[in-house]
Amino acid sequence: MAEVVIVPSADEAGSIAAAAIAALVASRPDAVLGLATGSTPLTTWAALATRGPDLSRVRGFALDEYVGLPAAHPESYRAVITREVVEPLGLTPELVRVPGDDGGPLAGAGERYERDIRAAGGVDLQVLGIGRTGHIGFNEPGSSLASLTRVKTLAEQTRADNARFFASVDDVPTHCITQGLGTILRARHLVLLAFGSAKAAAVAAALEGPVSASTPGSVVQLHPKVTVIVDEPAAVHLAHADYYRHAWANRFDWERFE
Ligand code: F6R
Repeated sequence: MAEVVIVPSADEAGSIAAAAIAALVASRPDAVLGLATGSTPLTTWAALATRGPDLSRVRGFALDEYVGLPAAHPESYRAVITREVVEPLGLTPELVRVPGDDGGPLAGAGERYERDIRAAGGVDLQVLGIGRTGHIGFNEPGSSLASLTRVKTLAEQTRADNARFFASVDDVPTHCITQGLGTILRARHLVLLAFGSAKAAAVAAALEGPVSASTPGSVVQLHPKVTVIVDEPAAVHLAHADYYRHAWANRFDWERFE
């Protein structure tokens, strides 16, 4: 079972996620982080910037990238990661990767990205948001639970949701290259964040529904180490919300029992 933490605000969630990242980097300065883009991780990056750990040796692998946008486009995930993560947090640009950024052909880019993640020793901590379709990364409903990095079609719902970053929905790319659900499951720790009532149905389906390709985020149920941090509006459809609150308030204190 995932550890589910229900917090009063996205800022509080960001503090908890940032603390997990800071603890990891303190023990392993060249840790490998899995990076999500979009609105959800912004409070995590802000809290991490406030803490100010040295992230110059950290390696990063983004979850996904649009296909068909030049890297210099301000909404390419390469540009977003540079602007929102690399620069403010002081990561080393050469150590941060985005799918399909190796200069090679798009065909085979997924396999090469998988190889590069493996060569880095795998992802230590993967930050995840969840889409209203239930996607994690850009693995839309119907994605294989064992999928690896590959080119996918974006759901119309996702293009509509991401139109806020573009002049119009017609400018949102139709395709992406995304880590697969199987790729994400290989990370050693998953930290899934979700805020706002628009995510409530997806959060409940992912955490408490059946594990199914219809809700790609439900694969987190197969992972042994998942921390889910949601605000109250995103938690409203969770049947076991009281249990999650109780479990977080009564976290096991090893020292007391030793
Ligand atoms: C982003 C990603 C997506 C987003 C999801 C939520 O790299 O892979 O799964 O995390 O679409 O987006 P926001 O956070 O903008 O609501």
